[in-house]
Amino acid sequence: MPVNGVAMTAIGVAIIRARESEREDRLYDDPQAKDFVAAARAGFEPERWARVEALADQFYDGRTIGVRLVDERFQEAVAAGCRQIVLLGAGLDTRAYRMGLPADLHVYEIDLPELFAFKEPVLAATAATSTCHRHVVTADLRGDWRKPLLESGFDPAVPTYWVDEGCLGYLNQDWNRQVVATLTELSAPGSRFGAGRMVIDPDAPRYRDLRRLVAGDDAPEPAPNPPLADFDVEQWLNDIGWNTEFRSWNDMTAHLDRPAGRLDSRIGNIAAFRR
Ligand SMILES: C[S@@+](CC[C@H](N)C(=O)[O-])C[C@H]1O[C@@H](n2cnc3c(N)ncnc32)[C@H](O)[C@@H]1O
Repeated sequence: MPVNGVAMTAIGVAIIRARESEREDRLYDDPQAKDFVAAARAGFEPERWARVEALADQFYDGRTIGVRLVDERFQEAVAAGCRQIVLLGAGLDTRAYRMGLPADLHVYEIDLPELFAFKEPVLAATAATSTCHRHVVTADLRGDWRKPLLESGFDPAVPTYWVDEGCLGYLNQDWNRQVVATLTELSAPGSRFGAGRMVIDPDAPRYRDLRRLVAGDDAPEPAPNPPLADFDVEQWLNDIGWNTEFRSWNDMTAHLDRPAGRLDSRIGNIAAFRR
């Protein structure tokens, strides 16, 4: 049970997906999210659980819309012919079960051992079956994850959609670049990747609370990742073999019947397509 450390953040997102799934006007339905939440709650001290729930509350509005946007990118990638999807820091994601994905699609979920030690028994206890091939890849993205991915059956010759949904932000910039360089080498032409472009205030209370909860109360005050000074992500992606297209948050959310808030027009997603 990941009650500490970065794997715990996946539980917060499951709380958000469970809550969304109960709404009549839901943006997606994730029936297993409530099972993860129930199993996790049983392992937390009540005070710590209340803090996880309070943080899920604070992140709910934006994060739940973000889940829906990734669902849409998933469907676009599958329709465009990607037959492999790799979730970087998959957490408690259940898209392999809930999206009716085609049987010839392979979904590779990469995450830390403590995450899967919690996730797999909870999934096994539900009646859910995945509609596509699902592969669990236990690896640390700060180490050699290429080898376990290849050993799981990943084929670098097949166009792949790579998903970072709230994971790379937990790695420092050197590791981020290393991860993207590796996935670039593993990407056949036609592969896709999305990189968030955000403007956040790392000193805002919710980000400080999140860092504190992840680090543990006995650890020294954790510092935020330093911003990417003078580093143009779009230019770099173009230089290493991707064509990019920026989509603003405001444009991506305009069709949703949900107040998404108008954000700074520089905030959004850099969609990258492998040449
Ligand atoms: C905020 S959660 C998001 C999970 C999932 N993508 C979602 O949206 O529900 C971040 C995930 O990244 C994983 N993660 C963070 N650092 C990692 C690393 N170095 N290697 C593998 N996984 C990592 C955590 O274990 C956690 O499951």
